[in-house]
Amino acid sequence: MPYAPHTFQNLIGHAAAYGFIFQSSDIYDGLAAVYDYGQNGAQLKKNIRDAWWKSMTQLNDNIVGIDAAIFMHPTTWKASGHVDSFSDPMIDNKDSNKRYRVDHLIEAHAEKLQAEGKADLAASILAEMEKLLAADDLNGIKTLIVDNKMVCGTSGTANWTDVRQFNLMFSTELGSVAEEASTIYLRPETAQGIFVNFLNVQKSGRLKIPFGIAQTGKAFRNEIVARQFIFRMREFEQMEMQFFVRPGTQKEWYQHWKAQRRQWHIDVMGFPEDRLKFHDHVKLAHYADAAVDIEFEFPFGFKELEGIHSRTDYDLGRHQEFSKKKQQYFDTEINQNYVPFVVETSVGLDRLVLATLSHAYAEESWTKEDGSPDSRVVLRLPANLAPIKLAVLPLTKKDGLPELARQLMDSCKTAFHCFYEEKDTIGKRYRRMDALGTPFCVTIDHQTKEDGTVTIRYRDTMTQQRMALTDVKAAVLAAITV
Ligand code: GAP
Repeated sequence: MPYAPHTFQNLIGHAAAYGFIFQSSDIYDGLAAVYDYGQNGAQLKKNIRDAWWKSMTQLNDNIVGIDAAIFMHPTTWKASGHVDSFSDPMIDNKDSNKRYRVDHLIEAHAEKLQAEGKADLAASILAEMEKLLAADDLNGIKTLIVDNKMVCGTSGTANWTDVRQFNLMFSTELGSVAEEASTIYLRPETAQGIFVNFLNVQKSGRLKIPFGIAQTGKAFRNEIVARQFIFRMREFEQMEMQFFVRPGTQKEWYQHWKAQRRQWHIDVMGFPEDRLKFHDHVKLAHYADAAVDIEFEFPFGFKELEGIHSRTDYDLGRHQEFSKKKQQYFDTEINQNYVPFVVETSVGLDRLVLATLSHAYAEESWTKEDGSPDSRVVLRLPANLAPIKLAVLPLTKKDGLPELARQLMDSCKTAFHCFYEEKDTIGKRYRRMDALGTPFCVTIDHQTKEDGTVTIRYRDTMTQQRMALTDVKAAVLAAITV
C-alpha cells in the first residue's frame, strides 16, 4: 500500500506529541541530526533491540553477544582504515558557506530535473556521478556540478569550492594534561569492538568456527548533511553481528545471512515483502568481496536499512598487522591455522524504529452507523513491539471499579507493560491508546463486579468482546509471544 500524502511530516509531529521522539536539546532550539527518545520511543526501541538480540544470540546457538566500549585504542581506527579513508566528498558554496555532500547535491538536482520531465538527463547525470565516485575523480565531480549549473539552495549561486574529502569521525582528547593527552575517536561503527575481541571471545567461550559475535550500541558520525529525521543522525545505534568462517566458505555464508536477515524483517518486524528490496553493491569497499543493502520503502522512497557485507579477512588481518598479535584460529577439522573470513550483518536501530513507525502509522476516517464522520490516528505496531501491551481502563472512578482495575494491572505488569488510565471518556481513552499503538484495551465496568467479565477491545479492528477477567493475561501473552 502506498503511503498517504504527508505521512512523513505528520509522523514526525505524532512522534513528538505522543512521547516517541523529540529533537535533542529542544529548549535550546535543538541540535541538528541528534534526537532523544521519549517514554514510548525508548520502550519501542528497546523492544526492537531485544527482538534482534534474541533472534541473534538466543535462537542461534553459535552466536554470542558482547558489549564493547565506545572508546577504543586510537590504533584501532588506523588499522581499520577509518583514519585514512572514512570520508565523504563534499563541496562548499562560497556565498552561503553551506556544505554539501556531493552525491546529495547531485541527487537533489536530478530529482528536480525528473520533476520537470527531463528523466533522461537526470538518469545520465546520476550514471556519470556513480562512475566518477567509483573512480574517486573529485575534479570530474566538480565539473559535473558546474557544467550542469547546479546551485546552492540557500544562496542560489554556483560559486563552488573544489570538492574535498571530509573525515566523518568525531575526535576528542583522552587525559587531562594537554601534553600527555592523546586523540581518541568516538566509534563510527560497533564492528571494530567485535574484531578486537575476537580471540578473547573465541578462547573464553571455546567457540568453533563458524560462529558469530553480536553487539548493539551507539556509533557516531559527523554527517555533514544530516536529514530525514532519524534516518541519518550524528549519534545513532547499530546492531551488528560478525560471523567468522573458514576462508573459501564466505560466499555461502553471505547468501545465508542475506536471506536470513530479509526474512527476519518480514517475520519479526512485520514488514510486507514489497516494502523490502535488495540493492547489490557494484562498487565494493576495498575490504569486501560482496555487499548488499536491504532497502526499506520509507515515506521518502526506498533507502538502506541494513547492510550485509562479506569483509574477507581484512579487519582481523589489519589488526594482526598493527597489534603484532596473531589473530588466528586453529581449525581442528582441517588441521590448519588461519585468519578467519567475516560476513557482517549491520542494521541501524534508529532506522529500524523509523521503518516501524512509518509502516505502522495510519490516518483513518469512516462514517459511523448514525451517519456522522469519525476518524483516528493509529499505530498498527506488531503486538510484540508495541511499547504498551495492555491498557486497563475503569469505566468510572467510583463503585470499586478502579480497585478491580488495579488488581488486573498488578497481576499483569510483571509479565508485560501495562498502562492505567481513568481520566476522560472511554472513547477518548481508546483513541489515545490507538495513537500509541497499544494492541489491547480492557474496560472494567459494573458487569465486571457481577460476573467477572471485562470488555477487551482490539486496536486494529476496533471490535470488542466480553472475556473473563482471569483470561486477560493469557490472551495478551499469547498475542505478544513470537
Ligand atoms: N559495520 C558496517 C557499517 O557500519 P554502514 O553501512 O556504514 O556499515 C550500517 O552502516 C547501518 O548503520 C546502515 O545500514 C544504517 O542502518 C545505519 N547507519 C549508518 N549511518 C547512519 C546514520 N548516520 N544515522 C542512522 N543510521 C545509520
